[in-house]
Amino acid sequence: MSGNRSRLDSAPLGVATIGYAFMGKAHSQAWRNVASYFDVPAFERKVLVGRDADAVAEAAARYGWAESATDWRTLLTRDDIDIVDICTPGWLHAEMAIAFLEAGKHVLVEKPLANSMTESAAMVAAAEAAAARGVRSMVGFNYRRVPALALARDLIAEGRVGTVRQVRVSYLQDWLADETAPMTWRLRKETAGSGALGDIASHAVDQVQFLLGDTVTDVSGRLHTFVPTRNGPDGPESVTVDDAAWATLSLAGGAVASVEVSRVALGRKNALTIEVYGSEGSLAFDLERLNELMVLDGTVPVERQGFSRVLVTEPGHPYLDAWWPQGHTIGWEHTFTHQIRDFLVAIDTGVAPSPSFAEGLAVQRVLAAVQESAAAKSSIVTVGS
Ligand SMILES: NC(=O)c1ccc[n+]([C@@H]2O[C@H](COP(=O)([O-])OP(=O)(O)OC[C@H]3O[C@@H](n4cnc5c(N)ncnc54)[C@H](O)[C@@H]3O)[C@@H](O)[C@H]2O)c1
Repeated sequence: MSGNRSRLDSAPLGVATIGYAFMGKAHSQAWRNVASYFDVPAFERKVLVGRDADAVAEAAARYGWAESATDWRTLLTRDDIDIVDICTPGWLHAEMAIAFLEAGKHVLVEKPLANSMTESAAMVAAAEAAAARGVRSMVGFNYRRVPALALARDLIAEGRVGTVRQVRVSYLQDWLADETAPMTWRLRKETAGSGALGDIASHAVDQVQFLLGDTVTDVSGRLHTFVPTRNGPDGPESVTVDDAAWATLSLAGGAVASVEVSRVALGRKNALTIEVYGSEGSLAFDLERLNELMVLDGTVPVERQGFSRVLVTEPGHPYLDAWWPQGHTIGWEHTFTHQIRDFLVAIDTGVAPSPSFAEGLAVQRVLAAVQESAAAKSSIVTVGS
């Protein structure tokens, strides 16, 4: 049974997750834990889907799924599957998400929404048609569920930093710094869409629009591939995506943001930092210290100004009342549990979940404009609508 769920419905929601590697593992632990910490509608972890029968069966047993399967299409006609959590590479998102939405299944899909604007637009159309039937959909921008970043958004919305003028987002990794690192689906345009841009600038752009509650209107971008050839299964192969990307973004409200992302920043493992500068205050966040938000109040006399370290572990902070006593910190994996919690509550209450596929498309539009700008020597490109 899917769609138009009411609180009176008592049958547990049946859940399937597709993919059991990095994100499939992260989402599986969230599905395993969420009901122990949050009030969510009853659900059952029914099926984990992969391609290799033995490997997915082992993963299903290890992660706590009742069964495993190798053909995702078999889920389409199963009445006991209400929710499908898509943790596969981007080239599969559109085909899977559209099929499941049309079959009446609620869909959570990992970021980026899809690999192309055409696929993204088709997914939004399918999501809107499904929503009219009470079927929900959401994109997995999990950093929205870091309590310190949810707090940052609240502070900005309350006007605590005044008018936001400038935002800096830097997201740096180094797993491609080694020139001998092999080809993967992430380095081919046809499977990944783009490189660091779609993979991690998607998070950065979503954060800019999420934190400011604003939309990017134009961009100037630059892409670069430092290692153009890597060894694939059949010998050397051209890398067809970017290793690093840079962009400046204008927002409708007047702010300007800079985004810098890389997968070759030697020494930086998963270094996401975000700084927000307003007319009356500033905020700074570092994922390696994700329980903290640095806050500066620019309205006090300058002699008393300075960044304060707010430890975001109070029960009154976003999501924290479900976890530990104050000061007992949480980690990166909790963001996925928060994401599942929000999705389940949205399904249960009939409230449209966020980020919607339309919000995912808004990010894709910005990324497409960055690609267009990069191809035109960084000239300013208006973000399409
Ligand atoms: N939110 C985040 O922080 C974050 C981090 C990493 C990746 N991602 C996103 O998650 C998605 C998956 O990335 P990943 O890192 O988990 O990739 P991965 O390569 O580690 O795993 C991909 C999984 O998809 C499965 N798969 C591939 N084709 C399939 C098919 N036809 N049928 C069934 N299963 C299939 C594979 O077996 C594998 O289990 C991507 O969209 C990626 O951008 C998000």
